[in-house]
Amino acid sequence: MKPEQAKQVKIFDITMRDGSQSKVATRIKLVDLLKIAPKLADSGIYGVETWGGATFDVCVRYLREDPWERARALKEAMPDVQSMMLIRGQNLVAYSNFSDDLVDKFVQAAARNGIDVFRIFDALDDVRNHTAVIKAVREVGKTAEGAVCFTISPVHTIEKFIDKARQLEDMGVHQIAIKDMAGLIDPSTTYELVSALKKAVSVPLHLHTHDNCGLGMMSILKAVEAGCDMIDSVLSPFAGGTGHPCTESLVYSLHRLGYETGCDLAKLTKAAEEAKAVRALYSDFEAPYSGVDCKMLVTQIPGGVMSNLTSQLKGQNALHRLSEIIDEIPQVREDLGWIPLVTPTSQIVVSQATFNVLLGRYKIIANHTANVLKGLYGETPAPVNAELQARVLNGQQPTTVRPAELIPPMWPELVKKFPMLTEEEILIHAIFPHEAAGYFAETAKN
Ligand code: CO
Repeated sequence: MKPEQAKQVKIFDITMRDGSQSKVATRIKLVDLLKIAPKLADSGIYGVETWGGATFDVCVRYLREDPWERARALKEAMPDVQSMMLIRGQNLVAYSNFSDDLVDKFVQAAARNGIDVFRIFDALDDVRNHTAVIKAVREVGKTAEGAVCFTISPVHTIEKFIDKARQLEDMGVHQIAIKDMAGLIDPSTTYELVSALKKAVSVPLHLHTHDNCGLGMMSILKAVEAGCDMIDSVLSPFAGGTGHPCTESLVYSLHRLGYETGCDLAKLTKAAEEAKAVRALYSDFEAPYSGVDCKMLVTQIPGGVMSNLTSQLKGQNALHRLSEIIDEIPQVREDLGWIPLVTPTSQIVVSQATFNVLLGRYKIIANHTANVLKGLYGETPAPVNAELQARVLNGQQPTTVRPAELIPPMWPELVKKFPMLTEEEILIHAIFPHEAAGYFAETAKN
């Protein structure tokens, strides 16, 4: 009998996208990412998350850097490493749905600028909002990773997650991610979920978690024991707390346990030294506290949501109402069909809960809340509050089709409007129309 081969675990270092987003508000400039990139590539790491999520928005709005150049330059610096982006389903890298033809154009551009793996999620976990992106990614011959958002609610059972994963597999994804955006998954649930998914689907599994509650590394270990194929982590200077478990300690531990990662620990520490120097350059963007905070185990409200809420309430001199708003959040979630708290639904739920506490419950129904109730974001995990829905619909019918069916093609108009621009430039106009003018004016001067 041949000796059993060591099991492979593929590691994606996500310092450059989620690490930067979780610790320094996504502000790291390309020039500084390029200091880390060659060393990370040299370490033998399997994948890196370099793009998507908030990076496109921050490049255009604040950094005035070409987001496409970022994708290209990082792929050039790490040619043999899988580069991953986070894509918000039909919302692409923004906050509301785009037309299917725009989805095609965006995915084609991302692929030709260097993206290999597209992690696709939807804030409502309505898999119909994955359809167009999965199709586009498959057409350009890249890897489609469908994400199931992990959240805790009375309707989110293991069976429900499995059902979503099965649907994604049927839709043609190449791999499935468990996206625990709030760091809420615990080791026991992780083991149960990964084991069940391993039986239910045949595509590889990828775990993404955060370390807010200090559970991250324990959950990762249980995921690997249950057969999880891919894991996300960050270089040590970005690890822990609102960030993620640490790449070097993960590699060290996995090797000691007899797993193979393909990574060279000594080389990873060189990349980490560089990352430490880079983070120090962005101290202006550090949150006042980004360590472990276990309150969330009780409130189940993500750390990022909590810090935004706190600063908003400070601005309105209403910080003394914070605990009432926290208590109101589960009520709003229930009324909105137990939607997960992730961009943009977390903002929708928190704003409505704030209105409810400061002005009286549903005295005002915010526009975005009304749109969830009307079905414009897609199907919610559980039915929405029927009374509220009737109120916002005002005699009309809720939307039950895939929401993007209602959006006419956008590309022909855009090409007419911007005949001199490249497809990449047109996409900036299409996705961030209000920021584009300022962005192009300023980048033209540079
Ligand atoms: Co994340």
